[in-house]
Amino acid sequence: MKGLSNKVALISAASSGIGKAIAKVMASEGCKVHIFSRDEEKIRKSAEEISKETGGKVKYSVGDLSKTEDVKRVLSEVKKESGEIDFLIVNYGDPKVAPFMDISEEEWDTSINMIVKSSVIMARNVLPGMSEKGDGRIVFVTSLTTKQPLENFAISASLRAAVVSLSKVLSIEFAEKGITSNSISQGYIMTPRLESIAEKNAKKFNISVEQAYDALKQGIPAKRFGNPEEIGYLVSFLCSDEASYINGTNIQIDGGVVRFPF
Ligand SMILES: NC(=O)c1ccc[n+]([C@@H]2O[C@H](COP(=O)([O-])OP(=O)(O)OC[C@H]3O[C@@H](n4cnc5c(N)ncnc54)[C@H](OP(=O)(O)O)[C@@H]3O)[C@@H](O)[C@H]2O)c1
Repeated sequence: MKGLSNKVALISAASSGIGKAIAKVMASEGCKVHIFSRDEEKIRKSAEEISKETGGKVKYSVGDLSKTEDVKRVLSEVKKESGEIDFLIVNYGDPKVAPFMDISEEEWDTSINMIVKSSVIMARNVLPGMSEKGDGRIVFVTSLTTKQPLENFAISASLRAAVVSLSKVLSIEFAEKGITSNSISQGYIMTPRLESIAEKNAKKFNISVEQAYDALKQGIPAKRFGNPEEIGYLVSFLCSDEASYINGTNIQIDGGVVRFPF
């Protein structure tokens, strides 16, 4: 892919799963990757692993997406250590999955901060530098719940849909500055989060973990889960020169789960 080498990429929620795999693929394409999440040991290990596997330059910060002061501090650390951000990849922690009435007002506040406010703060911070350069990419990593709201996923479906719309507005307002803003909606991806979902389902329905995985796969036409690296390839492509005319879109990557025609 063209246009990735030596570019500065900030990837949030990247000590594990999807965020870590995005960072790995982008580092292997030559990006200067900066990752962050809450647990210092986990994010340090993730940076070391990515660096070892790819030979790339990987820096890390510690910060909580639901705390605005953390997000602002991380952004200033990235700029200090690596310079202006070329690629902003906004990935999130896992919002609570529960019946609507079991989600407290405080949990809504935390999730609004983690998903919506962090997206706004990060975009506001990087857009002036990208505009000055006349180049930049933003990718919001959301969920299939934006296209197919599910029972118990009130937080995920509603707040990520807001991010998809935010991304479209940014794509209009900044297109002439050479910036693209897109979002992706991934389906079932094999990560520690999916492992814990399968374990919970196994307990709940008194079945084995393998049977719980099989039950989840039944709803996927591809009959397999996605690999986190497959998300990394899509995000890297959206940041590449080859994707410069893809703007304001939301791309499904779910093995065919969501079947709406539009
Ligand atoms: N895997 C799937 O099938 C799937 C499908 C659709 C959507 N998603 C969504 O994709 C995102 C990533 O999921 P995943 O499967 O990769 O999960 P994962 O393997 O559990 O990784 C989650 C990452 O988010 C970080 N994190 C959690 N809360 C954070 C916070 N408040 N601030 C900063 N970092 C935070 C975690 O690190 P720390 O704990 O150290 O902070 C970890 O690095 C989540 O939003 C998830 O809901 C996943």
